[in-house]
Amino acid sequence: MRDRLKQIQELAVSELNQADKKEILEEIRLKYLGKKGELTQVLRGMGALSAEERPVVGQLANEVRAEIEKILEEKTSAIAKAEYAEKLKAETIDVTIPGSKQLKGSLHPLELVKTELTEILRSMGFSVVEGPDVELDYYNFEALNIPKGHPARDTQDTFYVDDDVVLRTQTSGLQIRVMENSKPPIRIVAPGMVYRSDTADATHSPVFHQMEGLVVDKGVTMADLKGTLAEICKLLYGKESKIRFRPHHFPFTEPSAEVDVSCFVCGGKGCRVCKGEGWIEILGAGMVHPKVLETCGIDPEVYSGFAFGIGLERVAMRKYDIDDIRLFYENDVRFLKQF
Ligand code: PHE
Repeated sequence: MRDRLKQIQELAVSELNQADKKEILEEIRLKYLGKKGELTQVLRGMGALSAEERPVVGQLANEVRAEIEKILEEKTSAIAKAEYAEKLKAETIDVTIPGSKQLKGSLHPLELVKTELTEILRSMGFSVVEGPDVELDYYNFEALNIPKGHPARDTQDTFYVDDDVVLRTQTSGLQIRVMENSKPPIRIVAPGMVYRSDTADATHSPVFHQMEGLVVDKGVTMADLKGTLAEICKLLYGKESKIRFRPHHFPFTEPSAEVDVSCFVCGGKGCRVCKGEGWIEILGAGMVHPKVLETCGIDPEVYSGFAFGIGLERVAMRKYDIDDIRLFYENDVRFLKQF
């Protein structure tokens, strides 16, 4: 029986030493110390021993039990420690690893130009209005003195939605929408996208941006138009810049003009940016046609007004020296992050 006890101790200890998981320790505990465990089985047979032998074997059995329990405890705490160390290792944060870079966005050059221009005009007392991109033929053409069949329609290749609805080819329709709904004095600026079925190339795009300006009041003259545009150009391109009017024709203004600004790169001497001209065309303008005022219920005998339309891409291309309009719409981050 003593030999059997010694054998149990040796087996249990060697199994415990090989165990590396809590579950295995528990299995070993049940196998030797459990109710049906090997040590328990041996102790059951103690009844058969003589009175002298019984206490000796009993003590030995207690020693064996104590030894197994001691090692079981040691192993349990060792495994718990190892598992804890493992967990800590897995959760370690290396604070010396450089952080991942967050890309910072920037405003699109067209948005920058739009904001700058609207701020300039706001400071001069204009308020900003907007209108629909899908526009009635009436606002885009008819009310602007461009009836169906008028040759001016051919200069703005139009996307028709149906006979009466178009994608607006210009922001000028907003002149009508505003004059219809408000009484002079009127002083508004209207930025927006416009659409023309042009083939895209370095200077053309089927979608581009315009900004419309409109002033209607008693006694508004061409001199007010010139003064306003000269001031806008000074604020946009610097104090030295000048403007020049060239006679032109728009059906909804009379007289009409195309307006050039002195080249802000060479100051008018002629360079690559102005193609040797010294001047750069930036907008169309004129005095609101009396017929247009009348269409909107404003008496042309009492009131007069001026209007202008600026191409924002053109302004941005000059300002930032961009030589291809398509760059604005490609959304290449390498291009966009330069502004
Ligand atoms: N709408 C004109 C164009 O797109 C520009 C313009 C606006 C001309 C206002 C005169 C007055 O070309």
